[in-house]
Amino acid sequence: MTVILDGRKLADKIIEDLKAAALKLIKKPKLAVIFVGNNPASQIYVESKSKKAQYIGFDSVIINLPENSTEDNILEHIYMLNEDKDVNAILVQLPLPPHINKQKILEAIEPFKDVDGFTSYNFGRLSLGYKPYAIPCTPKGIIKLLDFYNIDTDGKNALVIGRSNIVGKPVSSLLQQRNATVINANSHTKNLKDLALMSDIIVSAAGKPNLITKEFVKHNAVIIDVGINRTSGGLKGDIDFESVYPSASYITPVPGGIGPMTVAMLMENTLDLYNIQKDYIY
Ligand code: GUN
Repeated sequence: MTVILDGRKLADKIIEDLKAAALKLIKKPKLAVIFVGNNPASQIYVESKSKKAQYIGFDSVIINLPENSTEDNILEHIYMLNEDKDVNAILVQLPLPPHINKQKILEAIEPFKDVDGFTSYNFGRLSLGYKPYAIPCTPKGIIKLLDFYNIDTDGKNALVIGRSNIVGKPVSSLLQQRNATVINANSHTKNLKDLALMSDIIVSAAGKPNLITKEFVKHNAVIIDVGINRTSGGLKGDIDFESVYPSASYITPVPGGIGPMTVAMLMENTLDLYNIQKDYIY
């Protein structure tokens, strides 16, 4: 029997727990989101993050900067947010316009306000197996969902498809830390199907609809779909759900799988950073 990993349900529970925790706080945690340009998909994400923060009872602000902003414009906003004692969490929505050096922007965020865990301080600590201030939201959400369903990763073969800093690299680190044997594939990988057929767990963050069909999946594999592909047939993951479902032991749907978990982890990270900062003088 295949179990559908209900990310929406777990995310809703986490959100309700955070709402109850926020109710007990005198001062509200505050999330600031910098959104440069007008990428329609990013706009939807940014608004949904802000709405969720407000639902929980956090303060949130979206700083919408024009597409033609300079690096210096964006950096000025980050420096102000770094200094602002009311702001606990800073997120710069990605992707940034092509003329902006992403590294320069992300590295300017104060690590203890880096809610995505994308600064080299936090990302480096995660990669080293030390505790960062925040773990990137999507990988953290994947691990939370696996844990909630008691899915063991110890000694399992895990294939991670995609090597982005947002998902592929950090989820590979986290799975390795949980004693999985991790292969991290990318778009140049030649024998994806052979690697997939050896895998007990597949995490796909390739951004290619229907990349993984039943021919790629061994019996009882755990399938985590991080793909969000806008197709003429609607929102699709990387996994051909209908064909893979019967072979999988566990599988995430798109939508309703990893997406809501990412937002829930962003909210959890915001509260964690607030708690770290509340006794900190700066
Ligand atoms: N764009 C797509 N996913 C993410 C994310 O997790 N964080 C940020 N900042 N931008 C994104």
